[in-house]
Amino acid sequence: MEIFTDIINWQAARDSGYNDGSIGFVPTMGSLHRGHLSLVRYSLKENDYTVVSIFLNPTQFNNPDDLKHYPREIERDQILLEKAGVDALLLPDYGQIYNDDYRYQVIETEFSKKLCYASRPGHFDGVLTVVLKLLNIVQASRAYFGEKDYQQFQLIKDMARAFFLPTVIVPCPTIRESDGLAASSRNLNLTAVERKLAPKFVRRLRSEQAVQNVIAGLETDGFRVDYVEDIGDRRFGAVYLGPVRLIDNIELKEITK
Ligand code: PAF
Repeated sequence: MEIFTDIINWQAARDSGYNDGSIGFVPTMGSLHRGHLSLVRYSLKENDYTVVSIFLNPTQFNNPDDLKHYPREIERDQILLEKAGVDALLLPDYGQIYNDDYRYQVIETEFSKKLCYASRPGHFDGVLTVVLKLLNIVQASRAYFGEKDYQQFQLIKDMARAFFLPTVIVPCPTIRESDGLAASSRNLNLTAVERKLAPKFVRRLRSEQAVQNVIAGLETDGFRVDYVEDIGDRRFGAVYLGPVRLIDNIELKEITK
């Protein structure tokens, strides 16, 4: 696996060594889990080359404490990616990505103002801006995003269409632990007691109850509920266990009768 900390070096390598086939791209913020590795596997299967980026993007964290406590495991991540068969790993720093110091931003005005917006204003501006930069840097045929972050996936897909980006945005199914909890880097920050409670979140989302009753049930369980909302054909939820924020969503057809 080739490692690039310098974008110019990656661009030169891309134009000489990666231009004879399709590139699949998996952008990440590191602390890789089974969900990321499944995106990597989709990319390996569907493309000639697979490129992964690890960049802990500060502009998408509206809470400095959240950024401070976000897990970082770069050496372990590199070993996992090497073993998986990834061709190139991009490890840019802030100055490489934000050569404009975030003067230029991508702002979406409708769907980004729903769901996660109320408690994370500015979050999707940071996500869309960094993803646009990364897509331009990598110039992949396909880029892979998990459906756990469905609002993010939808916004990125719509951005690619709005700006005529050549990369196809591919959604990949949420990977769950055996107890149903969606794989997430943030799960590492749960205490043992919180980790045991966490799978009740998706079980409540899947229950046949109306949204108000799902919220009441989660609160009784000990979650602090940010939102539970049905939009289109999905039920979206975000909850806190202590300081850890968990998000998830299910298709309404998954609701158990
Ligand atoms: O989903 C993530 O890990 C991040 O939001 C992403 C897409 C890598 C952008 O920083």
